[in-house]
Amino acid sequence: MVYTEKVMDHFKNPRNVGEIENADGVGTVGNAKCGDIMQMFIKVENDIIVDVKFKTFGCGAAIATSSMATELVKGKSIDEALKLTNSAVVEALEGLPPVKVHCSVLAEEAIKAAVADYYKKNGIDKEIPAPAHCHEWEMGH
Ligand code: FES
Repeated sequence: MVYTEKVMDHFKNPRNVGEIENADGVGTVGNAKCGDIMQMFIKVENDIIVDVKFKTFGCGAAIATSSMATELVKGKSIDEALKLTNSAVVEALEGLPPVKVHCSVLAEEAIKAAVADYYKKNGIDKEIPAPAHCHEWEMGH
């Protein structure tokens, strides 16, 4: 399996790893097929994601995609972050092997789950766009 340099870089030196204490939103998602779990923490100020951290118990691609996803949403507004799709994450990583695309779906879902939690905690009644659903996701590994 061939990974791009970007993927290897984010896998070996993942950005924004860890936990945010008193996070404004925490999202935990998992893939039932492979058993990998991803947790995203966001700190929100005036509708802007001022900080984001993640913990991923999963494969290398899941680590690389969560790392890239945090980079892509940091400093962005909530609305912009909700527009982040798994394909945008894959594109930013300059590609993922097809069997690993489902791992990037986990990253998109984790961000959305963290925002959903933020909305819930703050009594914000807004809809979260449904996460991408791809075939790779169904296929598991
Ligand atoms: Fe499970 Fe990548 S997230 S194999």
